[in-house]
Amino acid sequence: MDSLLIKGGAPLHGEVTISGAKNAVLPIMAATLLTPEACTIRRVPNLSDVKFMGEILTSLGAEVKCGENALTIRAEKIRGVGDYDLVRKMRGSICILGPLLARLRKARVSMPGGCVIGSRPIDLHLKGLQALGTKISFANGYVVASAPKLIGADLFLGGRAGPTVLGTANVMMAAVLADGVTIIESAACEPEVVDLANFLNAMGAKIAGAGSPTVTVTGVKALHGAEHEVIPDRIEAATFAIAAAATDGEVNILGARPDHMHAVLDKLREARVRIERNGPALTVRRGGRLKPVDITTLPYAGFPTDVQAQMMALMALTPGISIITERIFESRFMHVSELARLGADIAIEGPSAIVKGGKPLSGAPVMASDLRASAALVIAGLTARGATMVKRIYHLDRGYENIDAKLRGLGARIERVEE
Ligand code: EPZ
Repeated sequence: MDSLLIKGGAPLHGEVTISGAKNAVLPIMAATLLTPEACTIRRVPNLSDVKFMGEILTSLGAEVKCGENALTIRAEKIRGVGDYDLVRKMRGSICILGPLLARLRKARVSMPGGCVIGSRPIDLHLKGLQALGTKISFANGYVVASAPKLIGADLFLGGRAGPTVLGTANVMMAAVLADGVTIIESAACEPEVVDLANFLNAMGAKIAGAGSPTVTVTGVKALHGAEHEVIPDRIEAATFAIAAAATDGEVNILGARPDHMHAVLDKLREARVRIERNGPALTVRRGGRLKPVDITTLPYAGFPTDVQAQMMALMALTPGISIITERIFESRFMHVSELARLGADIAIEGPSAIVKGGKPLSGAPVMASDLRASAALVIAGLTARGATMVKRIYHLDRGYENIDAKLRGLGARIERVEE
């Protein structure tokens, strides 16, 4: 398993280009199951999760051709059984359920495992699909779904933590080929859901309201092939902005969509980070002494849970008290104990972490646990005195394209160590 060896203390300087969004490309890849015609997807990030989704689609019978940050997928003849081991290992693959149902009217998909950040239920996915006429049963760890007919319906997808991103994706993809109109209330508003809806509409679907809590899908008979460029990854962009501020450097972030990042940019400015638009670039640097800020993660357009860990690393460096409350996942503080190994002073009180920031961090061996926690450890290691070894960085490779090369390009002293 690879590790990252980081020698802290080098401020980041220069420019970095943001890759395509992991959380947009995964459901878009699943959506290619909805047509027998070829689809081409561009600005595809080179991530292990993308490779994995490609393997899953291939196991279903689709033809997947990889190009330079591009994919051509043709699901001419497919079967409705997702490979148990493949689907179980990646939560994001649950979004093949909706398109398989729409195309074949039946599907068997393994229950997605939970992961370190929480139990990851799919009750809302199933509730939405059942509202469209799907019969759901469970056998040997599989979800078994069948729908002789999919009929448009009005349905409510809100759960205890608000909307569901992949649940909205699944129901939207089932509804595009249903008879009649589906209205999804309490739909997720994330930009990745909008990107999926834009791709589906390019395939001939009729979706209105994506990005708002009420999405209307008018069923059509069939979809055709389409081409699409994936939106840039707002979470990667936020991660590099935070790393620039943490290391007291100055970074030009190219290719980001600031209109997808209002909550993050607002919080960073409140923390006295200067963020300026320079043509296509976002220039990020400190604007004086960092200020502690309180954060609560919320559904979009609120502060994203996927940036919570990275902000905690920044607040660990910031003199004062910051309170970070996680409202989306029940256990997304795995990074706290590892940040503590670097000298961070953080106490967990229920859904909140109280960060007493300002003490300098010192390097140590730490363990990555989930994708965004790993990013937080890298940010902390970039600022810590001495060497930090971040182990199990396969977590990072799931969601960040060439992060060590991109950071080295900004002057970080970081190298990948094969163990
Ligand atoms: C997506 O996961 C993202 N993953 C996650 O990013 C992201 O953190 C999450 O949305 C929230 O923004 C992908 O898009 C591949 P949810 P998803 O369904 O769709 C509860 C990353 O680091 N819930 O929006 O699985 C759930 O337990 C990853 O890139 C139910 O109760 O998340 C959670 O508390 C991590 N029942 C909340 O809703 C359900 O049926 C939000 O989950 C579904 C979800």
